[in-house]
Amino acid sequence: MAASLSTEGLQQEFDRLVADDQRIEPRDWMPDDYRKTLVRQIAQHAHSEIIGMQPEGNWITRAPSLRRKAILMAKVQDEAGHGLYLYCAAETLGVDRGELIDLLHSGRQKYSSIFNYPTLTWADVGAIGWLVDGAAITNQIPLCRCSYGPYARAMVRVCKEESFHQRQGYELLYALTHGTDAQRAMAQDAVNRWWWPSLMMFGPPDTESTHTAQSMAWRIKRFSNDELRQRFVDMTVPQAEVLGVTLPDPVLRWNEDRRHYDFGECDWDELRRVVSGEGPCNRQRMEHHIAAHDEGAWVREAAAAYAAKHAAVDAAA
Ligand SMILES: [Fe+2]
Ligand SMILES: [Fe+2]
Repeated sequence: MAASLSTEGLQQEFDRLVADDQRIEPRDWMPDDYRKTLVRQIAQHAHSEIIGMQPEGNWITRAPSLRRKAILMAKVQDEAGHGLYLYCAAETLGVDRGELIDLLHSGRQKYSSIFNYPTLTWADVGAIGWLVDGAAITNQIPLCRCSYGPYARAMVRVCKEESFHQRQGYELLYALTHGTDAQRAMAQDAVNRWWWPSLMMFGPPDTESTHTAQSMAWRIKRFSNDELRQRFVDMTVPQAEVLGVTLPDPVLRWNEDRRHYDFGECDWDELRRVVSGEGPCNRQRMEHHIAAHDEGAWVREAAAAYAAKHAAVDAAA
């Protein structure tokens, strides 16, 4: 049926599916720009999950107890799994993950700039779980209803795991803020350093966001950057009060008229610098990824040889 439709008819069918909140599946016709936007977004998301293993992986050998080490290892492994689901989702759009990784290594695809900040103390593991995974969930929950089926389904599973990540970070910080003076100070310092970068995870302000309008029309995105940022602030401020940490924003306060918290402006020049490669750890993150990828070449070769051998056996049978 689809083969007999003109491009115009196919476009109408696509528009109807999107407008009805149905899912677009890999075999469905889709506009080229929709496909390109999804490849870019899903690849950037996949790269972020994998690169995001580095700042926390830095603390696995130094976790303060066996319990904390086991939790952190589980969390970092979850992030690897998220990367894999997402590379698989991208592959349903007709790209190969090897190509995507080459694009990352050559700087033509990006990952979330949050992972270009260093993890200086153990409390950073808590601040990342609470704030960075918390911001990630806020972004990702609406993506569970994204118009592209494989991405939406990957997000359902990812979000379940992200909520565990957020809880472990919160619980870790809670233990520190209810510990010694030195532990409280360490927790506060980590929150001071991660608060603003977490707010920047939602991307530039709506007035400067280049992709938002089209992505919303395609129902890839459901809420704008500023709406999601506000939602995150509203969710996080009461949690900070329970933790007993101060958020480093002098203008942060409840606005009774808006029924939301007012908050200060992010340093957008800093975001631009970090996105363009000038963050504290950009170079280190990419060098580490390239080295790990090169060292893993034999695994990919062995897996390909094994698959080829079994394909030959199956063909002969
Ligand atoms: Fe993740
Ligand atoms: Fe996570």
